[in-house]
Amino acid sequence: MALVEVKVPDIGDFSEVAVIELLVKPGDTIKAEQSLVTVESDKASMEIPASHAGVVKELKVKIGDKVKEGSVIALVEAAGAASGSPSPQPSPQRGEGAAAPAPASSPSPAPAGEGRGEGGPIEVRVPDIGDFKDVAVIEVLVKPGDAIKVEQSLITVESDKASMEIPSSAAGVLKELKVKVGDKVNIGDLVAMVTGMGGGAASPSPQPSPQRGEGAAAPARAEAPVAPQATGDRTPPTAALPPHEPASPNGSLPHASPSVRKFARELGVPLEEVRGTGPKGRITQEDVQTFTKSVMSGDARTKAAAAKAPAGAGGGEALGLIPWPKVDFAKFGPVERKERPRIKKISAANLHRNWVMIPHVTNHDDADITELEAFRVQMNKENEKAGIKLTMLGFLMKACVAALKKFPDFNSSLDGEELVLKSYYHIGFAADTPNGLMVPVIKDADKKGVVQIAQETAELAKKAREGKLSPAEMSGATFTISSLGGIGGRYFTPIINAPEVAILGVCKSQTEPVWDGKQFQPRLMLPLSLSWDHRVIDGASAARFNAYLGQILADFRRVLL
Ligand code: COA
Repeated sequence: MALVEVKVPDIGDFSEVAVIELLVKPGDTIKAEQSLVTVESDKASMEIPASHAGVVKELKVKIGDKVKEGSVIALVEAAGAASGSPSPQPSPQRGEGAAAPAPASSPSPAPAGEGRGEGGPIEVRVPDIGDFKDVAVIEVLVKPGDAIKVEQSLITVESDKASMEIPSSAAGVLKELKVKVGDKVNIGDLVAMVTGMGGGAASPSPQPSPQRGEGAAAPARAEAPVAPQATGDRTPPTAALPPHEPASPNGSLPHASPSVRKFARELGVPLEEVRGTGPKGRITQEDVQTFTKSVMSGDARTKAAAAKAPAGAGGGEALGLIPWPKVDFAKFGPVERKERPRIKKISAANLHRNWVMIPHVTNHDDADITELEAFRVQMNKENEKAGIKLTMLGFLMKACVAALKKFPDFNSSLDGEELVLKSYYHIGFAADTPNGLMVPVIKDADKKGVVQIAQETAELAKKAREGKLSPAEMSGATFTISSLGGIGGRYFTPIINAPEVAILGVCKSQTEPVWDGKQFQPRLMLPLSLSWDHRVIDGASAARFNAYLGQILADFRRVLL
């Protein structure tokens, strides 16, 4: 077994490239051609393969090191028959020997080939891209009519080991593109026709496959690539990952072109956490922008930020809070640890976000429901045989619809700088289930009577308890009621169900002495707790809303007005 040095092979015109990733570690058993490190310039990224199979004894580079042709990457104890070249050359010639298969080693973003017809437009061809054959065009960065500069990237090509941008060897106006996404190209293939402006290309008669160092020596990509423009606020959330979902779960290098890598590095975006929406999951510049936006808006966290958050604290450090207390509870007595049901975890995350992001204020009030309850009880008695049961919740929904119509801001949602006022009245109600809180929705409550609403709430609450609610039955609410009336309590602070802007909490009605101006009267009083989003609603509106709701509940005929 011989100790061999694995060196950076011929990497074309790159004088120095940075090591950006180590793919193996000492002690690893490697195969010939297995990638050892990834290097990157501003124009290309490539993986440097092992020339021998064997065991990595030592890595001679670390992340950030600059390497060039001949730099020693690693010492490998070569396994006997794995290599035909016991002492690999620093710069193995292509086709020579068995050493350095170099698929990734010679992307050689050397001079872009260029040909110029007599007086006609200039031909821009694929330059020497080393041993790569049939590399796929994965991105077209320009379009006919574009003014382009010398060295401006025209297309991105990619193999399994490297991606590189093919630059223009001439300045001018792009007349015609000769390739499209998905095409396979080789050295010398025609990429584009450019109507020259002169002075761009240094090589008057370029070869389809120019030798390195010769000719125009277009240093591959130079100017900033044609960047997809920043998208508006409505970018699809595809790239906005929850923090623990890496784009490259197998630990491989994220699939992105060099310019996108550079862009991500400049922003400090961990590329492995960005989900690519390009072909084969490739990460585009837009994906990086969308990820950045989602982190900035708080919709996603980087893994690094999440890792800093103590378990159970939900990232309080982002708010400048001290860490969540970490207590060994078993020290103080016996404990049992239980996995929380999925629904509880989901609703916890939603409630936490809503509590943190919405400036809540809660107004408490009482409604006199003496007559309403008497009416409800009487109706239920009369209709007992028919199996019809009117519930307080049904009346509350109708009363809320009337109040929402009078105070439309309560039936709205914030969307950026705009308020979306809804002309429909879908009322959600909190249902207590063995698995946690669920919020089914009564659609078009304004068009339904109290009987129908009572029937539907009973059906939906049953479905909720059985875990049979469909997503459609839980979506679209414009306002929510959380009723603890059947359980007890006086007042509480319900958390708004985003993106709604208000929620009504109701507790158990009680007979109380109410002063009528002359004497105390026994009245059945219903405690109301209205939480509202102070960004949309102010205290006066909330007080009016509750007062109006109270009037309706006190005299339900007002619903008709
Ligand atoms: N005051 C006094 N009694 C009330 C009342 C109120 N505000 N609301 C209901 N009741 C009574 C009912 O009349 C009923 O009594 P009855 O059987 O003698 O007629 C009893 O309480 C049970 O009512 P309930 O089962 O709660 O039915 P409902 O239609 O009022 O409510 C749900 C249905 C789905 C809302 C309810 O079952 C539920 O899950 N509530 C919990 C919601 C929750 O957890 N909210 C907290 C979120 S943070």
